[in-house]
Parts: sequence; C-alpha cells; structure tokens
Amino acid sequence: MPEPQISRSQNPHASHVLTWLEAHVSPKRLDHILGVEKTAHALALHYREDAQKAAWAGLLHDLAKHFPPRKLLAEAQRFGLIVDPVCQKNPHLLHADIGAALAQELFGERDAQVLQAIANHTLGNPEMDRLSQILYLADWIEPMRKGPDVDHVRTLAWDNLEEATMLGCFYVLEDLSKNGQPVHPRTQCTYDWLAQKLSLCEPEKS
Ligand SMILES: [Fe+2]
Ligand SMILES: [Fe+2]
Repeated sequence: MPEPQISRSQNPHASHVLTWLEAHVSPKRLDHILGVEKTAHALALHYREDAQKAAWAGLLHDLAKHFPPRKLLAEAQRFGLIVDPVCQKNPHLLHADIGAALAQELFGERDAQVLQAIANHTLGNPEMDRLSQILYLADWIEPMRKGPDVDHVRTLAWDNLEEATMLGCFYVLEDLSKNGQPVHPRTQCTYDWLAQKLSLCEPEKS
C-alpha cells in the first residue's frame, strides 16, 4: 500500500510558510526543513501519531534558524522569553522558542502541541509529548544528516521513540562536554527524565 502523502493543500497557511522560508533561509536550510517535514510525517505514521501535525511542525521548526545573535536576543525580549545564562552566551539556542512564537505571530498557529514541538526541538524538555519527540528525532535524522551518531539515532528512531530521543540527548551532552561547552539544563533534564522512565520500564531480572 502506498504511504500517505503530506497534504499541504489541507493547510491554508502552508504556501505562505514556504514563500516566507524561501525569502528568509538558505536553499540548504530549506532542504533540511523539507527533510524534517518529511521525516516527522513518516515517524508519526510509524508511531500512529498525527502525521499532518508532525509534518506541519517540521515545516515551521526552523523559522528563526538564521537570525543573528543580536536579533535572537531582541526577539526573546519582545516575546517575553526568559534568557538564561547558557542562552545569553549562545543565543542560537533560542531559535526554537522564538520559532514557536513566530509560528503563532506570522502564521496564526494556535495548536499547543505543534507550538511545543517547535519550541522543544533543540533543547528538548522533560515530560515532552510524543509529537515533540518525533520532531526532535526528525531534526536529528532527516536524510541530509550524516555521521555515526546520526546513524545510531536513525536506526533506533524506528524502533523505540523514547530510547532514540534519550540517545539524541546523550550525544548532544557528550558532544558539549567533549568540546568544553556549557550544557543547557533542559537537555540534561530531558535525558535524566527519559533515563529514569526507561529504567523503570526495564523488566525485573530474576
Ligand atoms: Fe533548529
Ligand atoms: Fe532543524
């Protein structure tokens, strides 16, 4: 049976988003975004979640990706976002939360699950729902992403959503620590939340 396709025609805002993206992001970034849209759609079908919502979150997830640091800090202030010391030092980390605020402002997005998935796609969030995990993983494994860590996450992503999300967080934390970069508490808390949740799910050894 052919796989259901992404249906942008059902969404009156999709063509506006594509036009906006073509004007504001590089062609390479647009390819990444379309890869995330497609991968999020496929993962959601695989896990029996809302595939159109996942695809839509994928299309919207990197609206603020190319904003320079000063603009990210200004936008964070305009939207009333808290800028913690790690984000102050690395404003790029704000692009996910700002992307969610822009999705609401520019395209009238009101779906809380979609907005949360966009906001959670970089740093994660403890207790994040399955749509957020799907977008987090789609951003990790879309076809343009390459490397041994990506391959590992990509394989696990089709097998166990939570384990794959935890592995993605693990690699982010490992990479930051290797490079002496500050760890954002949200990523650490997301990893700890999943590690505890999954250890509680392990069958007891006799
Ligand atoms: Fe991003
Ligand atoms: Fe992305």
